[in-house]
Amino acid sequence: MNTKSPRVSVSRHAHFNAAHRLYVKSWSDEQNASQFGACANPKYHGHNYELIVRLTGPVDPVTGYVFDLGRLSDLIKSEVEARLDHRNLNEEVAEFYDCVPSAENISVVIWNWLRPHLPAGLGLHVTLYETPRNFVEYDGAE
Ligand code: NI
Repeated sequence: MNTKSPRVSVSRHAHFNAAHRLYVKSWSDEQNASQFGACANPKYHGHNYELIVRLTGPVDPVTGYVFDLGRLSDLIKSEVEARLDHRNLNEEVAEFYDCVPSAENISVVIWNWLRPHLPAGLGLHVTLYETPRNFVEYDGAE
């Protein structure tokens, strides 16, 4: 190995199911239906979310690890799955009481939950699939 530590990305794939409804509380039913279509259904609908958490940082010259993926798996379970799996996002997750639980907003909430538990020097990138074809990505950018 040379003296420079190569930066490598390591990822963990996870999964959760959740129900949600996309709507803006202050809008009329017609406005919500027009903006969100079937996703505004007042009776909610569910998704099988696929989550990929990617960490980027230097390879530890001793362990050969960027971050222990077993630890990352445990973190995703305790910080994300325990809060979101089999939940109604609008009604059971405080972050979405006044915030539309779109895939975009869910990815930001997940990033914010994980960030404090990870070393500052590691880049954190969240990819969230709401359907097999629709996914969003967030890396902490503002
Ligand atoms: Ni939906």
